Amino acid sequence: MAVLGIESSAHTFGVGIVERGKILANEKSMYRITNKGMIPAEVAEFHIANATDVVERALDASGLRIDGITGIGYTRGPGLGPCLQVGQLTAKSLALRLDVPIVPVNHGLAHVEITKHIARLKDPLALYVSGGNSQILKFDRKMHRYSVLGETFDIGIGNMLDALGRSLGLKHAWGSEIERLALHGRYIPLPYTVKGMDFAFAGLLTKASRLAGREKNEDLCYSVQETSFAMLCEAAERALLLSESSELCVCGGVAQNARLAGMLGAMAREHGARFARAPDEYNSDNGAMIALVAEKMISKGMAVPLGRCGIEQRYRIDRAVL
Ligand code: FE2
Repeated sequence: MAVLGIESSAHTFGVGIVERGKILANEKSMYRITNKGMIPAEVAEFHIANATDVVERALDASGLRIDGITGIGYTRGPGLGPCLQVGQLTAKSLALRLDVPIVPVNHGLAHVEITKHIARLKDPLALYVSGGNSQILKFDRKMHRYSVLGETFDIGIGNMLDALGRSLGLKHAWGSEIERLALHGRYIPLPYTVKGMDFAFAGLLTKASRLAGREKNEDLCYSVQETSFAMLCEAAERALLLSESSELCVCGGVAQNARLAGMLGAMAREHGARFARAPDEYNSDNGAMIALVAEKMISKGMAVPLGRCGIEQRYRIDRAVL
C-alpha cells in the first residue's frame, strides 16, 4: 500500500508518500509570510496555484506513478478554513479519480505520530508546540486517542513569538530571528503563568511588547524565550512524573528551537527519561506525517466515504481516534 498525504492547514502545501511506514517522498511549497501575517484567502490561492506541482514532485521523488497510489489522506484540521479546503478538495479529487480509500487526519496527531515513528518511541509524553497550538499529550490506549494533560489558556507559543517579532520590528521568520538574537541577550523578569499542567502566554507577550524600544531587542528575545520555555518545561515535568513516562518528545514548528530542546532534554535526563525530537523537515508542516497516519488508519479500516470527508477548523486532538 502506498499512501499519499496532503497537508494544507496553514502556510505550507505539503505532499508526502509513505509505503509500509517508509517515507518515499516529502515535498512542499511554502507561502511567503510578510509583516501583514497570513491572510487565509491569499494563502489558499497560493495552495491552489501550487497543488498540482507539489503532487507531481512527490510522485517523481517516490518513483511511483499516480496509479501506484492506493490510499489518500489529508488534514481535516485544525487550521485555516480556506487553506484546509484546498487540501481536502485535492485529496477528494485524487481519491475519486483513482478509486482508492481516503481518510481525514488530525494535524496535531500527525506531528506526534511522525516524531514517534522517526525516533522509534513507544509511548512518549509529547509536547506539541506550534503557531496555534501548545499542548502536553499522552496516548490513552483504552480510548485509542490522545489525552490533553495540559495546554495553553490563550495563544499558542508560536503565535506569541511571531507577535513579539512583529512588535520588535523583526523580519520573518520571527521564531528563528528571536532564537538568533536571544543568543546575545540578558535576563529581564517577565510574567510567568503556569497553573498545574496548563500555561498562558498573553500576559508575557503584552509586557514584552510594551518594553519594545525601551529594552534591547536581544534582551527581550532572550527573556521571552527563557520565561516561556521554562513555563513549558515546568508543566511538562509535572506531566512526565504524573504519567510515569520514560520517554519525552517535542514536536511542531517551535520544536525546531534548539534552546527549547536543550531545556527539555536536560529536564528529561534528570528523571531518567529518554528525550527525542524529529529533524526540522518533520517539525515544520509536511505531507509525510499525514501520509504516515493515513496509512495506519486505512489499514485499520478507518477510511471514510467521500461524502463525509469534511474539514474542521477547530478539530481537537482529543477527539481524533487512532
Ligand atoms: Fe503544524
